[in-house]
Amino acid sequence: MQDRILAVEEKLAQSKRVVVLTGAGISAESGVPTFRGEGGLWRQFRATDLATPESFARDPKLVWEFYNWRRELLAPLRPNAAHLALVELEKQVPHFTLITQNIDGLHQKAGSRNIIELHGNIWWLRCTQCGRLGEDRTVPLPALPRCAACNGLLRPHVVWFGEMLDAAVIEKAYGEIQTCDLMLVIGTSGTVQPAASMGMHAKGAGAMVVEINLEPTPYTDSFHISLTGKAGDIVPLLT
Ligand code: OAD
Repeated sequence: MQDRILAVEEKLAQSKRVVVLTGAGISAESGVPTFRGEGGLWRQFRATDLATPESFARDPKLVWEFYNWRRELLAPLRPNAAHLALVELEKQVPHFTLITQNIDGLHQKAGSRNIIELHGNIWWLRCTQCGRLGEDRTVPLPALPRCAACNGLLRPHVVWFGEMLDAAVIEKAYGEIQTCDLMLVIGTSGTVQPAASMGMHAKGAGAMVVEINLEPTPYTDSFHISLTGKAGDIVPLLT
């Protein structure tokens, strides 16, 4: 392990452009449940009942109950050592981009600055009628929150299954991935596209790709270096 850490440190010192991709695993040590694996949200709930545009159209109260519950769970949680180490890395690298699949807002809470949120943010609400977007940290929100401008029904500003990711967000992410020298892929199972294949894109474009995860993923053998363990233990070793 020590030799692999050294190799990543060396590459980090030489890199002008670094991309980090994070998934639910980086927030696990803060107390955020992951989606898959033991204790995973999608083991407890059916995503198709709660995180699709169809389920929201059918039963918005139920979907809001789920999101209000998640907001309540997330509100008191704090960034962990891995989130904080990425804030330090951002200061050390000339051009640093953090691409996250997480909607929990913990990277912002930690102090990371250049963040691309692929799946939105649970603390932002979007009007289903006028499209107005705004941050609202009220916990809990009313059973059916309404837009202050047009009284339309608000929804969480997150990407649901079956929905397209924001094209501008994706374009920005690929721009960074294609030009980076090093990419760290932290705490993601590599099962949801397009994030799952972003590491392979970076590799194809010539970057060194390093995975940090508790366990192997479908991409472990394809990346250059795999660091196995908790993100909160490993990421701080790289700063
Ligand atoms: P998953 O729950 O699929 O995977 C979490 C990954 O984190 C697994 O590979 C774990 O091994 C790893 N892990 C857990 N604890 C860790 C720790 N302390 N340190 C390092 N790694 C750890 O979560 P994602 O890959 O983020 O999408 O899931 C991708 C998307 O699926 C989510 O963004 C969400 C979900 O459905 C949407 O909601 C659109």
